Amino acid sequence: MAGRIPDHFIDDLLARVDIVDLIEAHLPLRKAGKDFQALCPFHGEKTPSFTISREKQFYHCFGCGVHGTAIGFLMNYRNLEFREAIEELAQMAGVEIPVEARSHNTPNTRDLFAVLEQARKHYEGQLRTAPERQRAVDYLKGRGITGEVAKRFRVGFAPDGWRHLFDAMTKAGVTDSQLERAGLAIRRDHGGHYDRFRDRIMFPIHDRRGRVIGFGGRILDQGEPKYLNSPETDVFHKGRELYGLHEALAGGQLTSLVVVEGYMDVIALSQFGMGNAVATLGTAVTSDHLDQLFRHVPEVTFCFDGDAAGKRAAWKALEISLSRMEGNRAVRFSFLPDGHDPDSAVREFGADGFMGAARTFGLSDYLLDSLKVEIDSSTSEGRTRLVARAAPYLRQIPDDTHRAVGARLLAEATRFDEDLIRRELGFTSGRPRARTSSGGLDRYTSRTLIEQTLALLLQRPHLSARIDAETAAFFREELHDSAMLLKVWEIASGGVASTAVLLERFRDTPEEPAVLELSALQLNISDDAFEAEINGAVGRLRERAQDQRIGRIRAIPFGEWSDEQKAIMRDYKRGA
Ligand code: UTP
Ligand code: MN
Repeated sequence: MAGRIPDHFIDDLLARVDIVDLIEAHLPLRKAGKDFQALCPFHGEKTPSFTISREKQFYHCFGCGVHGTAIGFLMNYRNLEFREAIEELAQMAGVEIPVEARSHNTPNTRDLFAVLEQARKHYEGQLRTAPERQRAVDYLKGRGITGEVAKRFRVGFAPDGWRHLFDAMTKAGVTDSQLERAGLAIRRDHGGHYDRFRDRIMFPIHDRRGRVIGFGGRILDQGEPKYLNSPETDVFHKGRELYGLHEALAGGQLTSLVVVEGYMDVIALSQFGMGNAVATLGTAVTSDHLDQLFRHVPEVTFCFDGDAAGKRAAWKALEISLSRMEGNRAVRFSFLPDGHDPDSAVREFGADGFMGAARTFGLSDYLLDSLKVEIDSSTSEGRTRLVARAAPYLRQIPDDTHRAVGARLLAEATRFDEDLIRRELGFTSGRPRARTSSGGLDRYTSRTLIEQTLALLLQRPHLSARIDAETAAFFREELHDSAMLLKVWEIASGGVASTAVLLERFRDTPEEPAVLELSALQLNISDDAFEAEINGAVGRLRERAQDQRIGRIRAIPFGEWSDEQKAIMRDYKRGA
């Protein structure tokens, strides 16, 4: 396992790369005052509201509210993991990640990626050059797969025989132990190796960055198993990866992904214009999968066969989805007509008819529908049982809005009072009143004094010099809500370059959302007024801390005051 990337390395990296250069390499920018603007890549818009601040090293979209640092941009726009984003920025800046923090780019895995890529080329080439290629080509044709889509998914062929790949690769300098570690060759008990994949159509599996990490192979005729997958290796982890995700993401910006069961399903859907299908690799959907999906799109549709196995799989997917319902996310469950899988359905009904032929449910809908099958909800006992059975599931939905939908549906299904159901689901109040205009809340002037000071510090870190160590100690002692402010002050006082550096120090901490939000807050303060603004805010915080301290001392009987406390009260009465 790789070590943590040290803070100072990230600070330094963010000081070296300019977020404007980084984003300009991906989007056309235009200058707008001190800032730069672009059409937001995270939502559709016609006039630019995506704004990049060179001073803060921070981007923010006034349209959809996304914001972040250079690291965040790479994570969101290019779908990289945190560490991958750091690696990419380090490469841009020409610096090396500290040895102790290096990870999957170790020589160990780097050579596996190269070996797997070479194997992919080999299999793909066999479809053109192997003496028995015609059998494979006929098979693909027989399944209706066009040359174009086969190429898009880099479909290949492993001819029958024990050492086709092994011989070709070792001749090219790959070692047998590399082949074994890549999951491509199997060692015989008495020495020697043989090919894992024989007489199979080969489907390379890519990670999101497009690197080959493993293969699935389908038997050409009869034979067991029908599908054979790469074993777990240093770079291939079945429960995390999704077949087709790289290809789907490469096709352009997506708003939804469809999860199906098989390789052939993904390929057929893509061929018929649904380029947003992905498949698990012969395993049930895991929460890792779901997190991965939601990192890219807000809407996920699980598509299952209409049989009993499909329903079991759907129920599993439902159970892991509940705890992840928040914000604008949506999960749907689609069941195909009996006897169909997505491959056969899209070939019979076409892309448009495909979803129409399926029965599709929202999350809560599907939950209640499944439970109703076992419960006679026409009797009052049945209705009560339905509530008792559904509530533990619906309670797992963290987000009030999503849970409220569940409450309404459950109330409708049982004809119980909705407020009663809401209490059952952990709501403390009845139905929400109409929302008050949100206009005021996000304004700087309507924030608490602490939040205002925080926003100033986050957006102009050099202002930390306006708070001296004695004042900081005073706040720490007297202002119970100053912890985050002091943390920001402390980091900024260490000589921080930008807002971005501060933000990265808060990554994955409970404070992160608040810190991000205050960094993006519109202050409408002119540059020369910042100094006065923070002086004013700190002054008022001092007064508040002073009131707090005096009140605390006054609560102690006079005779018990310490010398220090007596001195404080003397100064106070003199008006110091
Ligand atoms: P299915 O058996 O439903 O096959 O497996 P399919 O996708 O319809 O395949 P075709 O149409 O007969 O070619 C669905 C998925 O389950 C995994 C594979 O990932 C497959 O795509 N699977 C299936 C295995 O891993 N091993 C098997 O032996 C069978
Ligand atoms: Mn099939």
